[in-house]
Amino acid sequence: MTRDEQLRQTAYEEMEKHKGVVEQDPYRLHYHLMPPVGLLNDPNGFIQFKGVYHLYYQWMPFKTGHGAKFWGHYSSRDLVNWTHEDIALTPAEWYEKNGCYSGSAIEHDGKIYAYYTGNVKDEEGNRESYQCLALSEDSIHFDKKGPVVHLPEGFTAHFRDPKVWEQDGTYFMVVGAQTTELKGAVALLQSEDLLDWEYRGVLTGGGQGELANFGYMFECPDLFKLGNQDILIFSPQGIEASGMKYQNVYQAGYVAGQFDSATGTFKHGNFGELDRGFDFYAPQTTVDDKGRRILFAWMSVPDQNEQDHPTIEHKWLHAMTLPRELKFVNGKVRQVPLEELRDLRAGEAIEHKVVLDKESRELNGVNGKAFEMEIRDLSFSEGWFDLSIGDGCRLIYSVGEKMVTLERKSYVNGVVEKRQCKVVNLDSLRVFVDTSSIEVFINEGEETFTARFYPSPNNDTVHFRASNQARFTIRKWDLDHVNLK
Ligand code: FRU
Repeated sequence: MTRDEQLRQTAYEEMEKHKGVVEQDPYRLHYHLMPPVGLLNDPNGFIQFKGVYHLYYQWMPFKTGHGAKFWGHYSSRDLVNWTHEDIALTPAEWYEKNGCYSGSAIEHDGKIYAYYTGNVKDEEGNRESYQCLALSEDSIHFDKKGPVVHLPEGFTAHFRDPKVWEQDGTYFMVVGAQTTELKGAVALLQSEDLLDWEYRGVLTGGGQGELANFGYMFECPDLFKLGNQDILIFSPQGIEASGMKYQNVYQAGYVAGQFDSATGTFKHGNFGELDRGFDFYAPQTTVDDKGRRILFAWMSVPDQNEQDHPTIEHKWLHAMTLPRELKFVNGKVRQVPLEELRDLRAGEAIEHKVVLDKESRELNGVNGKAFEMEIRDLSFSEGWFDLSIGDGCRLIYSVGEKMVTLERKSYVNGVVEKRQCKVVNLDSLRVFVDTSSIEVFINEGEETFTARFYPSPNNDTVHFRASNQARFTIRKWDLDHVNLK
């Protein structure tokens, strides 16, 4: 058996062995993408290819921890129902022996060109990184071409996560990097044929410009057009918390501006976080045949108490966010749940017109483990309004402070922790709950809060409270269990 065959076989055995215990977890999600066993992290190689959506992902099948990652693979025709496909990449070769790390995909000549980072560590823990290429005609089987980019001068081996796109007849690649001065940076490369890559320079960060002092490493860059803006998404590490901002261990956000493909330069504004919750990192986008810019993110953050998630007892860890469509409105990136997610709705909505008067209340039919709520026509007198999901988390709007807060009971020690942001006018809320995850879309995606939380499994109530008066209309749908085939 080749090393590749061995790794595949062991991974499938692991999947079979733990299937029962994984599926019995009351915290297993109903309609999100998860690893069949082991740990999932970043979305990779997201592409619509021959009409079918493919989402590859960072996968450690052998344990609920990080290590020599595989590329797992989900495919879908409708972005709602997904099939778990055969493993796309195993860390079998010398140039990737410690992991086929994150990367992207682009279609060329009827083939998927997948770029990823070959992570290599020696006995002393010294790291090497290679940007590698693998080709596929059917999205399932990949033919590895090995390294196509070697580490340029001026960077440490923390050089990874290539994202490739075509613009004005040329191919570009952005890579997440750390300079030898230990500054976070995005490196830019260029190619005419997708095979020979030339290093162009630091696109942003690296101790210069707007992001001169912005952490020690940028991971998972993604550059694309949204309306008339160029958006660069990346996940910086080493940013200090500041007021309500940068509260997670690492951040995920973007800068907007203009990328000049001729000079390889990017003029942009300040960094903004993409999500205000506890669990959102390493987002990746693709554009589909409807012209939509669609984003998936990893619903966790590296090194943020990962080993304390209770799902570990059931041999699995982490999930993807729901897919979201991006829009650029009033100078900001908005995230809206994909239109297709309406297909998850099981039956008709339960509707209420509600007036809360200094009271706490449940609403008939508004409860469950996997559901969506759409709350509109909100108006408040003063004070605050909140909704609690089981005994696990609480979303609060403070009218006076114009502030949204998401609280959850920490899965580490049970203490209540919070994330916050300003929302001047709260017009609407769309909330997706899935046993142990919550995604909140405020004012059509102006702000989002994404988090895992672990309510007592037998508590599927939702309580609504107002310190004074709150009025709103609510529609609630149960959401179907999507069988991940
Ligand atoms: C981000 C990341 C990437 C890396 C991958 C390894 O979460 O650290 O930078 O390629 O995960 O799994």
